[in-house]
Amino acid sequence: LDPKTPSYVTSDKTSFAYISARDRWPVIITGAIDDTYRSVMSSNDTAKEEEGKKIVEELARLKYELQHDRQLTPLRDDGQPDITLYNQELEKLGTPTWFNLPWLFSECYLYRRMQTSFSLSTCWKNYDVFARQKINTFRSSRPAVIELASRYQDLVTQMATDKSKTGPEAEEAQKILFYEMCEICLWGNATDLSLLTSLTYEDIQKLQGSEARKNSEKNILVNDLGAAYDVLKKARDEGKKERRVDIVLDNAGFELYVDLILAGYLLSAGLATTVVLHPKSMPWFVSDVLPADFAALLSALASPKSFYETPSEDEERQNKTPAPLSDKEAEQLSFLFQEWARFHAEGQLIMRPNRFWTHGGSFWRLPAEEKELLEDLKSSELVIFKGDLNYRKLTGDVAWDPATPFTEAIGPLGPGSGVNILALRTCKADVVVGLDSGIDEKLRAMEGGGGASGKREWAWSGKWAVVSFSGGK
Ligand code: F6P
Ligand code: MG
Repeated sequence: LDPKTPSYVTSDKTSFAYISARDRWPVIITGAIDDTYRSVMSSNDTAKEEEGKKIVEELARLKYELQHDRQLTPLRDDGQPDITLYNQELEKLGTPTWFNLPWLFSECYLYRRMQTSFSLSTCWKNYDVFARQKINTFRSSRPAVIELASRYQDLVTQMATDKSKTGPEAEEAQKILFYEMCEICLWGNATDLSLLTSLTYEDIQKLQGSEARKNSEKNILVNDLGAAYDVLKKARDEGKKERRVDIVLDNAGFELYVDLILAGYLLSAGLATTVVLHPKSMPWFVSDVLPADFAALLSALASPKSFYETPSEDEERQNKTPAPLSDKEAEQLSFLFQEWARFHAEGQLIMRPNRFWTHGGSFWRLPAEEKELLEDLKSSELVIFKGDLNYRKLTGDVAWDPATPFTEAIGPLGPGSGVNILALRTCKADVVVGLDSGIDEKLRAMEGGGGASGKREWAWSGKWAVVSFSGGK
């Protein structure tokens, strides 16, 4: 069921697993404690306050156990069927301590465990402890959001005018646009948005491909976008009526925004007739999309002036007022809202949650754990997996030789699975596959790449990316 290759583990001091568990998780739990406490302080409901304080204590306890390398405790039953799966896995692993565990399982357990504190309460059941952070980051990506909104409007308008154009030049233009949109969507997953801001609409128009895109393309170590494009184009050219693309989402805010840009583009370009989005069902890896984040994004765009011109809590404290949006900017954002709201209302843009996405294991277990979901994905032309965690789950988060073919590393979801898969991933963890031989060595030898330390440090920062396709049909 799982890959035979050994997992990345929190005990390995050369892996990002160890650094995550030691340095990052305590910070994340502290953030959750602060957020909950803030909500306790601003509540005027005593029952809620009392419960909130208990949740804070539980989170503090979790942090203590992690930092003192205690055993992981079985999850308390909150009525959801995945609890049994988590606890069975824990037993199978011999109830280990925090620094002696497979990275993937321990990190999923961390978020699932936090969730039990909220789900077992009365007043905090649907509380998202990361919501503040998510919407604030979206607010602060305002320049890139506006730039993309303007480009999107131009493109959609132009595509409508160019619809009748045919011939090799028009074909090439379409393909370049597809690359462009997917690459914007890809880099939206990097925490560093600097690669995006230098792309301009003029560059796309030139069709030669922009310098900026070419530059960022150098950081894409594997690029299978051509194969994905061929699949979608073939389905369209064959006159297939229903052509679905699925996006297994990663982060809310700016990344969700670029996912919607890609979705809207695919629908407008006729490369898909429906786009199904797969969010998470509980607060997950801090920034992942919940259904409510989709609603929050749409409502921000529905009234962009009030969203961007109302000071955030931090700005209020610092007595700052955000610069006003120009009428043109507000109009461009409203255009996006109308497009997406229309697609959503007409059933072409759909959210479809499934609890499988927050299970503790990898996607190798999909056929065994969630047959219906697998069947559903089979009816899609292409399933796009966004981000680092989804890539870790596709490949099982094990120490593959980096030259292992992607199709092999995704096991049961590879050829013959009936699912066409495209992973858009900026590298933020050790696992990587599908590289030409010698690339890993070359990157390790570069400044900050890890060198002789034995660490694959180049793969931790989101600077490099892999875009891998597997034809499963
Ligand atoms: O930086 C490491 C990490 O937190 C991993 O634990 C996780 O896989 C990833 O980042 C989350 O990134 P993404 O949102 O791209 O999945
Ligand atoms: Mg994420």
